[in-house]
Amino acid sequence: MEKLRVGVVGFGGIFNGAHKGTWKTTTKAQIVAVCDINPEKLKKAKLEFPSINTYTDYKEMIDTEHLDIVDICTPNYMHSPIACYALDNGCHTFCEKPDAVDVEAAIRMKEAQERSGKVLMVMRNNRHLGSSQMLKKMIADGEFGEIYTGRCGWIRKRGIPGKGGWFTTKAQSGGGPLIDLGVHMIDLALYMMGNPKPVSVVGSTYCKFANDEEESDSVHANFGEKVEGGTFDVEDLATGFIKFENGASLQIEFSWASNIERETRFVELRGTKKGAKWERGTFTLYDGKKNCKIKDLLFRGKQLVSSVDGHGGNLRHFLDVVTEGAKPDYVIDQGIDMIKILCAIYESAKTGKEVQL
Ligand SMILES: NC(=O)c1ccc[n+]([C@@H]2O[C@H](COP(=O)([O-])OP(=O)(O)OC[C@H]3O[C@@H](n4cnc5c(N)ncnc54)[C@H](O)[C@@H]3O)[C@@H](O)[C@H]2O)c1
Repeated sequence: MEKLRVGVVGFGGIFNGAHKGTWKTTTKAQIVAVCDINPEKLKKAKLEFPSINTYTDYKEMIDTEHLDIVDICTPNYMHSPIACYALDNGCHTFCEKPDAVDVEAAIRMKEAQERSGKVLMVMRNNRHLGSSQMLKKMIADGEFGEIYTGRCGWIRKRGIPGKGGWFTTKAQSGGGPLIDLGVHMIDLALYMMGNPKPVSVVGSTYCKFANDEEESDSVHANFGEKVEGGTFDVEDLATGFIKFENGASLQIEFSWASNIERETRFVELRGTKKGAKWERGTFTLYDGKKNCKIKDLLFRGKQLVSSVDGHGGNLRHFLDVVTEGAKPDYVIDQGIDMIKILCAIYESAKTGKEVQL
């Protein structure tokens, strides 16, 4: 089979850290072109992939290269316009999270996907960890009973990505840790809960660390380039509460910086038969008899040893959908619901009121 032609938009941190490896090793596709507005990044791309063509304009790349796939790794505000252009020009499209920076932009992606009939998937790397797949199967097998509530968060002590650059500029990122980290953990919670329909939210946001000079202690905060004296008009902490049509609820908290013991990243689920806490790729099961003790039936020792390359797993799943017609585990309606939740929490934080979706 001839390899599918891939064009990458955005040769920055996440592409080099988490996409490149899959494109280099898959037998199904190969990178033939890279677009970045920064010529220095294109020089690096050319060194690494000598046979590619490089572009500073994604439209020119798509118009010229007869691509099968576009992989979008740009700042958030460019996801929707690039995805719509790629889909409208016949390309299957894989896009980094978050889906979009507002609901209208996410809806435009859905419309372009429907017009084109091509595959559109947005990165949901946590779903593709071995631990998540195993927990999901246990839930599907009915081991948890009814999951009626949960909590999730990614709370950093110090870990603001690219301070002053696009990450901390609302017009380019759509927001702070709520949209940056929330999309990961809320998605995993909803995925485990069976993607219930959100009906209302309430939330608060704070910005207290824009002038903080402490060094980051988070290995997860090395994304985005810092800009001295740049913009910081997003929150650094968000809390909230989401209610769903089926009566379930979810408490959330996300921060890039806060005075806490240490960074935590978790999804906690409460079911009528069992509860679970997922933490950084492992999970622990709880029930009434063995109060809060780790159940080791499905574990090696006390912890599950699982596949840890969630990003690669997600990209390989996308390729299976494109080449073999595998059933996609993500559909853009889930992305629209996600962006509705996040934007409504920002609205609630501004108005002080509960927002109906
Ligand atoms: N899934 C994850 O775990 C994860 C982790 C980090 C970042 N991300 C997401 O990945 C995306 C990129 O983040 P990053 O950390 O790599 O940022 P980055 O700033 O390191 O890289 C972005 C790249 O896009 C380029 N770019 C900007 N505008 C462009 C345009 N219009 N056309 C072409 N290129 C353009 C920049 O020059 C830069 O090289 C963001 O959406 C972010 O939310 C995902």
